[in-house]
Amino acid sequence: MILEARSREYCEARVRAGVLEQGTRDVLIEAGVGDRLQAEGLVHGGIHLRFAGEDHRIALGELTGGRTVTVYGQTEVVKDLIAARADSGAPLLFEAEDVELAGVDGDRPVVSYRHAGAAHELRADLVAGCDGFHGVCRRSIPAGILSTWERGYPFAWLGVLAHVAPSTDELIYARHDRGFALHSMRSTEVSRLYLQVAPDEELDSWPDERVWAELRSRLAYDGWTLQEGAVSEKSITPMRSFVAAPMRHGRLFLAGDAAHIVPPTGAKGLNLAVADVTALAEAIEDWYATGSAAGLDGYSERCQRRVWRAQQFSWWMTQMLHVDPGDDEYGHQLALSQLRYLTSSTAAATTLAENYVGLTVSRVSAT
Ligand code: DHB
Repeated sequence: MILEARSREYCEARVRAGVLEQGTRDVLIEAGVGDRLQAEGLVHGGIHLRFAGEDHRIALGELTGGRTVTVYGQTEVVKDLIAARADSGAPLLFEAEDVELAGVDGDRPVVSYRHAGAAHELRADLVAGCDGFHGVCRRSIPAGILSTWERGYPFAWLGVLAHVAPSTDELIYARHDRGFALHSMRSTEVSRLYLQVAPDEELDSWPDERVWAELRSRLAYDGWTLQEGAVSEKSITPMRSFVAAPMRHGRLFLAGDAAHIVPPTGAKGLNLAVADVTALAEAIEDWYATGSAAGLDGYSERCQRRVWRAQQFSWWMTQMLHVDPGDDEYGHQLALSQLRYLTSSTAAATTLAENYVGLTVSRVSAT
């Protein structure tokens, strides 16, 4: 049984990130929800780093033995998952209200909720808390159980979706004196662009002309032109790093943003969530098939390694590519030196590439 707080329309319209690691793509195809992803996703074998008037390509494929990323919006992944669930006939309730958990310590947790005006109670074997950072699941764990670690950033991202063919074949990550900019895409007709802005920035102060002017100056490169188009979505994403562990309390298992948040630079959020639920699904299958709880018992620890790798990678990409308004010239020079090293040393570029395309989603053995 899946309980979703929002409406189907909301879930299918919400714009999120758009880069799938090789392992995420493989898992979605294996799970039978990869048809549209294979038909419409754009496979990228490289990214560009732009800084100090230079542009350098990091050859992801060549540096990782042929692993690549697929540009396919999280919104599209969500649509595909909802459609597959609807086809399966298994229950998926939208607009579930007042969801509460009880008894996760025991062997029959109870999930209560309201739907279409009526109160309901579910008696579950297990509860998967996939309800995001602000969801009810993590908050249901009694005080003193979870350890948490976090870091804030003195900036946010302003993102726009623009109906114009991307001005680049591959993503461009730019560090500029005025701040970070990213040129991404959703299709051959739709561009997705981001700008570093102040954390308390108001959308009203960013009319389209200002967004384009700022993108033009931060992404500028000799002989290259940014194509502009109609903006259909504009939003501000706060930046936060956060980890809670263990990702399990009794019969409740946390996955994705319910347990951890990364800043968006490097697009790890969705990929980490897919890795969590892949590990959890295998552990649950194993438990029902063999009665062994080894997979469930090892779930949190298994996920934590990848979680912390993504934490470090996302933090590193973020501090290297953004201009911290409180930082001095020394910090700026360190970031430029790091970018120069990455774009001149195969060893350094390989570090970026293998993290970017993602660690292999390892399988739990049934032993
Ligand atoms: C996108 C988002 C990211 O955070 C990123 O690193 C690359 C691309 C995107 O939304 O397309």
